[in-house]
Amino acid sequence: MAILTDTQQSPPDTGQPGPIPGPIVVTVDGPAGTGKSTVARQLAARLGLDFLDTGAMYRAAAAIVIDHQIDPTDTDAVLRIVTDADLHFDWTTDPPAILAWLKPLNKRIRDADVTRLVSQIAAIGPLREHMVMKQRLIAQQHPKLVSEGRDQGSVVFPDALVKFYLDADPEVRAKRRGEQLRAAGRTPASDEVLLQHILLRDARDSTRQQGPLVCPKDAIRVDTGPLSIHQVVDRLEHLVRERIAGTKA
Ligand code: DC
Repeated sequence: MAILTDTQQSPPDTGQPGPIPGPIVVTVDGPAGTGKSTVARQLAARLGLDFLDTGAMYRAAAAIVIDHQIDPTDTDAVLRIVTDADLHFDWTTDPPAILAWLKPLNKRIRDADVTRLVSQIAAIGPLREHMVMKQRLIAQQHPKLVSEGRDQGSVVFPDALVKFYLDADPEVRAKRRGEQLRAAGRTPASDEVLLQHILLRDARDSTRQQGPLVCPKDAIRVDTGPLSIHQVVDRLEHLVRERIAGTKA
């Protein structure tokens, strides 16, 4: 057995804190309001991985459609303009900023009109194919990745080492959505209206033909309802490190 000197550190052992050494894709899917984005981002930071917010890509597409007055039912026109915008992330910011025509769209993609339209845009099959292609390219350039969305474990990265599916009751998710909006300095609609929006978005996201929201059969399902963000991140981190330990054993 090789003897380690002071300057030769052993690689972080599995189960131990520290960045993950090799290429790895972890997927985090689930409906809106499960804390997915926050959890995935914090998980990526703890494991030393990059964080890909695929919802930001669909939101950017919706923002472009609105701002360029494209008819959202004209799928050819939608695909044409989104392809032309050449969506990219700026990986120097945290979280990475989404760019269209090299301009950041961060704030715009969280506006209420974008949130209302996005699930309709995300149901356009050829647009999803374009996004899936881009997401796989990103994973080639960022091979240590936590990728968050609706179809990351089921369609985009079916061979991901660890797949999570976060869930929570719609009422809990609606309440969280209201808190998120308040924290962002916005005035949310009533809990009841937020719940209706969540249910509508769930229905659209899970009934579309391509890349519907599903829990991949090999995913670990986590009910985030009774847990704090911190507890969810702890659990996911532990599970990832455990899985890596398992693959090395
Ligand atoms: O996670 P989010 O709320 O930012 O997602 C915005 C919308 O994009 C939501 O309606 C679901 C859709 N989406 C999708 O269809 N596929 C993904 N991989 C990510 C998001």
